[in-house]
Amino acid sequence: KYLEEDNLSEEGKKFLSNLPKEKGWLGSYAYNYQGFWVPQKFLQAVIAFQQQFQAQDSDIILVTTPKSGTTWLKSLLFALVNRVKHPTFEPNHPLLVENPHVLVPFLEHTLYFDGRTVDISTFTSPRLLATHVPFSSLPKSIQVSKTKLVYLCRNPRDTFISMWHFTNNLLLDQKDTDSIEEMFNLFCKGVSLYGPFWNHVLDYWKQSIEKPNKILFLMYEEIKKKPKIQLKRLAEFLECPFSIEEENSGVVDDILKMCSFENLSNLEVNRNEKFSTGEAYKVFFRRGEIGDWKNYFTIEMSDKLNHIIEEKFQGSGLKF
Ligand code: A3P
Repeated sequence: KYLEEDNLSEEGKKFLSNLPKEKGWLGSYAYNYQGFWVPQKFLQAVIAFQQQFQAQDSDIILVTTPKSGTTWLKSLLFALVNRVKHPTFEPNHPLLVENPHVLVPFLEHTLYFDGRTVDISTFTSPRLLATHVPFSSLPKSIQVSKTKLVYLCRNPRDTFISMWHFTNNLLLDQKDTDSIEEMFNLFCKGVSLYGPFWNHVLDYWKQSIEKPNKILFLMYEEIKKKPKIQLKRLAEFLECPFSIEEENSGVVDDILKMCSFENLSNLEVNRNEKFSTGEAYKVFFRRGEIGDWKNYFTIEMSDKLNHIIEEKFQGSGLKF
């Protein structure tokens, strides 16, 4: 455990001193590790995940850019995969009494947090897991196994606004909030949680085109606009398509209703409970809308990010 924030060992100090660092979004610093920016508090966990995790062919791993709607997709995945065992809206359905992040845990933020050793080989199959780690830094066993990856991203403008609110919320009791200007400049430089944003998205996008059976590429806006189509796409990708009977009896609609922002954000568990580490579940539910960035961006910010987006995504087939 040589990368903990306090009492760093000489070995830990040496390791960190060789990595580029910038102001962190979650206090302290962010370190550039293998080309992406990791908050100091999660670096040890990312390394433990890379070293210890053994993928199984039946695993389903949700990969997201932070603040792209991970909580939502975790709930959709859980409801979809467990729809026989847990019919939608059954009393005490796990999603009605537990937060989606507990049901579909993050590999680095939860399971390997602090670099601990965990035995997840006994989790019931298929294991539903999540990560923010970029494609090229995933443990090799994920890349070579039949593990399915579901990727989610979101318009970078809304992602930025959501990230700024979220990190300020988490920092509230520790210090003053970070200004939007400062964080915007960092985001544009690529310094965001697991950023650069564009590298993260483009790498998974390219992989999803090369290996369409391995990686499904989803966008928050598309799920918002055509939820039924996207949920059915997800079910087909995971080889558990909805039957005609299920569609006719309203299972698709029920899953979407149960996982809606409206329903999840108003549940007692998500309004009042928190992680054992102290973060309240309610910080994962803010507005859940498309285009909130327009309420915050100046014309200069808009021009600057437009320019970067154009340059980075040019020729990729992706439009934001
Ligand atoms: P906003 O901050 O724009 O409201 P993540 O889950 O990756 O941390 O992303 C959080 C974002 O997803 C927040 O966006 C949050 O409000 C939104 N969100 C959470 N649950 C949602 C749901 N069920 N449907 C749509 N958006 C949701």
